[in-house]
Amino acid sequence: MKIAVLPGDGIGPEVTRAALRVLDALALPGLVLFEGDVGGIAYKRHGHPLPQETIDMARAADAVLFGAVGDPACDDLPREHRPEQAILGLRSELGLFANLRPAAGWPGLEDLSPLKPQLARGIDLLVVRELNGDVYFGAKGERDSDGGREGWDSMAYNEAEVRRIAHAGFRAAQSRRKRLTSVDKANVLETSRIWRETVIAVAADYPDVELDHMYVDNAAMQLVKSPGQFDVILTGNLFGDILSDQASACVGSIGLLPSASLGERKTEYGTFGLYEPIHGSAPDIAGQGKANPLAAILSLAMLLRHSLGREADAGRVERAVAQVLADGVHGADLGGSASTETIAEAVLKALETI
Ligand code: NAI
Ligand code: MG
Repeated sequence: MKIAVLPGDGIGPEVTRAALRVLDALALPGLVLFEGDVGGIAYKRHGHPLPQETIDMARAADAVLFGAVGDPACDDLPREHRPEQAILGLRSELGLFANLRPAAGWPGLEDLSPLKPQLARGIDLLVVRELNGDVYFGAKGERDSDGGREGWDSMAYNEAEVRRIAHAGFRAAQSRRKRLTSVDKANVLETSRIWRETVIAVAADYPDVELDHMYVDNAAMQLVKSPGQFDVILTGNLFGDILSDQASACVGSIGLLPSASLGERKTEYGTFGLYEPIHGSAPDIAGQGKANPLAAILSLAMLLRHSLGREADAGRVERAVAQVLADGVHGADLGGSASTETIAEAVLKALETI
């Protein structure tokens, strides 16, 4: 079993180190780790945020454990050298088109959500976000206009792209509560019209799943007003990015939401994938030992489940996280004072008895 570890920038290395301590405690037989540079640190060391050797390392592994990229010192670089291009490049180079972002209320956190406790408690949803298309990957540039310089980005989705993510969404719904809400903006966007028509066509293969459609602005409102109505939210790259950050706040903190990015490649043990917290490099708290490592630790649990076929270990890690949260070991993001290390150690301690 090979895992490529790409810690990246800012709090990326801090939370990844915590996840690796948990992985170490599981003592998986035959596990080999490789570590590579990605993001701003890779730009500084190799002159490129996504060096070819990092791509090769990721390709040769069964799974990638990713921290975060983004460095304010790189903000003025041309786009192709910016750290964020590394994660976009990896997702597309590795064909990782399905991004799974589970958000569920944790016992003990109900009062920390900005929502009413009974609403926070009822959250148990999965955002299935398309990851290889949309406005992130369309043609873009800068041109002159009557109003001065004009930036432009093009948003595009074809039927094949929508079909494959729709299948991933319906399959996920079949393994959950069998409800799928497709989120788009079909009242104004052509991409969304194709999206909606394609999702409706794919739904014929999944008669056991109840499908409904929601405009993204309404979905944002419904997530706050009655989040318990959602099971699987199927949506595009941009809307999924925004709605999953919003869902994380409803649960209590962005420091709690993991993600899996999957494609079609199978490994000996499961599906090849990249696993990362949904948050970024958080330069405002980097180097202070304040980052909540639980999103990274929960991302490791997803890695164990999807890429290594170790469901029992994944479940153990998730139960340990639940116990730590219920015990009130909370970082600054949840109004507590536990450091990254204290939280990681609490998870290790909980694992001893789970
Ligand atoms: P961010 O997610 O890094 O931070 C947003 C806010 O949440 C900040 O106040 C931060 O301190 C807090 N936060 C994030 N993770 C936390 C954690 N684990 N524990 C406690 N607090 C946490 O988003 P922001 O500030 O918009 O972006 C910072 C950099 O990260 C930018 O360069 C951005 O492009 C990059 N980014 C990278 C991503 C990736 O690598 N996949 C995803 C999102 C942003
Ligand atoms: Mg985001």
